[in-house]
Amino acid sequence: MGDGEPLFKRVAIIGLGLIGGSLASAIRRHRLAGQVVGYDRRADELALGEELGVIDLAADSLEEAVRGSDLVVLAVPVRATRTVLAELKPFLDRDAVLSDVGSTKSSFVADVEAVFGDLSPHVIPGHPIAGSEKSGIRAANPELFANHKVILTPADNAHQPDVERLRALWEGCGATVLTMSVAYHDEVLAATSHLPHLIAFSLVDTLAGEDENMDIFRYAAGGFRDFTRIAASDPVMWHDIFLSNRDAVLRVIDHFTHDLDQLRSAIAAGDGAMLLRVFSRAKAAREHFTKMLSGQAYVTNNSEKQVTFRLQPGGSIRGDIRVPGDKSMSHRSIMLGALAEGITEVKGFLEGEDSLATLQAFRDMGVTIEGPEDGFVRIHGVGMRGLQAPRGPLYLGNSGTAMRLFAGLLAAQPFDSELTGDASLSKRPMGRVADPLRAMGAVIDTAEGGRPPLKIRGGHKLTGIHYEMPVASAQVKSCLLLAGLYAEGVTSVTEPAPTRDHTERMLEGFGYHVHRDGATASVTGGGKLTACAIDVPADISSAAFFLVAGSIASDAELVLRHVGMNPTRVGVINILRQMGADIEVLEEREIGGEPVADLRVRSAELKGIDIPEDQVPLAIDEFPVLFIAATCAQGRTVLRGAEELRVKESDRIRVMADGLAALGVETTVTPDGIVIDGGQEIGGGAVNSHGDHRIAMSFAVASLRATGPIEITDCANVATSFPSFVELAQQTGIQIRTEGGE
Ligand code: S3P
Repeated sequence: MGDGEPLFKRVAIIGLGLIGGSLASAIRRHRLAGQVVGYDRRADELALGEELGVIDLAADSLEEAVRGSDLVVLAVPVRATRTVLAELKPFLDRDAVLSDVGSTKSSFVADVEAVFGDLSPHVIPGHPIAGSEKSGIRAANPELFANHKVILTPADNAHQPDVERLRALWEGCGATVLTMSVAYHDEVLAATSHLPHLIAFSLVDTLAGEDENMDIFRYAAGGFRDFTRIAASDPVMWHDIFLSNRDAVLRVIDHFTHDLDQLRSAIAAGDGAMLLRVFSRAKAAREHFTKMLSGQAYVTNNSEKQVTFRLQPGGSIRGDIRVPGDKSMSHRSIMLGALAEGITEVKGFLEGEDSLATLQAFRDMGVTIEGPEDGFVRIHGVGMRGLQAPRGPLYLGNSGTAMRLFAGLLAAQPFDSELTGDASLSKRPMGRVADPLRAMGAVIDTAEGGRPPLKIRGGHKLTGIHYEMPVASAQVKSCLLLAGLYAEGVTSVTEPAPTRDHTERMLEGFGYHVHRDGATASVTGGGKLTACAIDVPADISSAAFFLVAGSIASDAELVLRHVGMNPTRVGVINILRQMGADIEVLEEREIGGEPVADLRVRSAELKGIDIPEDQVPLAIDEFPVLFIAATCAQGRTVLRGAEELRVKESDRIRVMADGLAALGVETTVTPDGIVIDGGQEIGGGAVNSHGDHRIAMSFAVASLRATGPIEITDCANVATSFPSFVELAQQTGIQIRTEGGE
């Protein structure tokens, strides 16, 4: 508290058990109150409190404790609350703050109302989520609350300055304070604390009652010990808690019993798939526990982490590497594998946060997915009609592809769904899929301006349409083809320019015919997908950073293995070669319906070009790094017809121009492109990537030709598409290090 006034003049702690005693000693240690007075019916505990220095003063009576205190905290067994309140009522100062530490909040409020007739604005129920299986004042620990959460449940009429003072008191004890409603608190605690205690008590009791109980406990392994630690908790306290949080606890017990019954039936019926589904979903949930608890998807919420790249200028590029699997194909392999009949095995799956979000979303819709482990995933398909309603919104992270393709799939399901994403995705246009899906009969709500979240109403029949796409977008095309699998009749899509065709190829791989006629692809609804094996090649969009790095660095030679060479993706190679890059294509082969090759890149003198407009959709994700190539080339590079870049993870024209300007490179931005005069010096400086993974990686590559150190901020999202970027960059010769992150 420093030199200022303490938060409270006199705090009375009623009940000196583990929590009351710990709170008293924390307040004393951190000097949060002028005086801490304790009271406990048990004279010996009270005397011990004074003796151990837990409290300043042991009050002889409740009256002595409460009178003149400006904060009174009840730390008595929940079931004793009403009696204690009635006893202290005559002595409580009118303006004194009254709080408690009980595990159930509606019962405290009911007790206050019963005794006082109403809930005064000075009553602020509290609940520290801390404790241990130990009890009694001897276990009191002034650091018990450090790094723990404390929940306050003030009513709407609560006196705000009191709430703030109480918050500051708990924060002074080292806790993080959350506020929520009484009802919500009780629901949450019933599920996260009360039910686990009930199960632990019940399990230990059951086993103790078995004939061989001695043996059971003697051989009990670590798992049993961990799981049942809480069964040694105070029986009286827990008996109070269950009786006072009855309704919420009953609801969650019913839910659990139902799920346990299902597991029982699955074991009885030998339904291994069901067991695997539940266990793998639970494993993923447990691994991403904190995220799950904060209401996020299990996989990530990158925007909250701050990662900075720091680069030293110069360096060469050498090595023989394989970049991670293709992002577009990884998403699609999960989607089609989930809807197929049979088991689909995927090799080379990109374990980036975007594709993991897709994987998790299907788990949330009841699909069993094993892995990923070293890029291997096994998907137990549920068939076209086998998805189950997710329990909450599906969080798709940073991925526009996932959101648009999911929209198509979910529009035809019998259940409602909601699609959400991170800050960047939440700004991206979804009208481009919602509008044509509505024309097919889908019912979809978007936020203002056609932005996410997407709320999709289930149970609407779709009918095939013909759609002339106004923009060349593989995501829109794929969305409609996926919806078309469920629609009556034929769904056909014509694209204004060729875009990546992984959906069409993969559908064929799963045995679903896609009719292709020039710029038009069509499917007839009502068919089925059959599981298959998928070998995902390395992502050419990730390889692109190294193709440019190898081209602009001096004395460079790098081999990139197993790169996907789908003709709708090779724009970056065509453009770089036209600029004079030295890229050799080796060992061309076809794997699982997709062309693949090894690439060798060596340093080259690049020259500026007018980028052919027909290459734009074929290199749509590679322009940020191509702008770096253009900056290092001799002469002028002009890009036109690329307004789509403005609605990617960031406005990639603007953000690249700003980043280049920060390094002293002048460019001219046009509505649909950019003009870059090459040969300008790239200086050192600070670049903001605006959370866009490809911008961050592009400026990391630029360091190879920079004259000073470069700092790139907001880089956490690199993990969405290229989780091993920093290691591979270091390994090949880029002088990069990261700061921040986990
Ligand atoms: C993708 C299509 C492209 C691309 C994105 C992935 C896909 O988006 O930019 O990174 O997997 O279908 P658009 O279809 O919006 O151009």
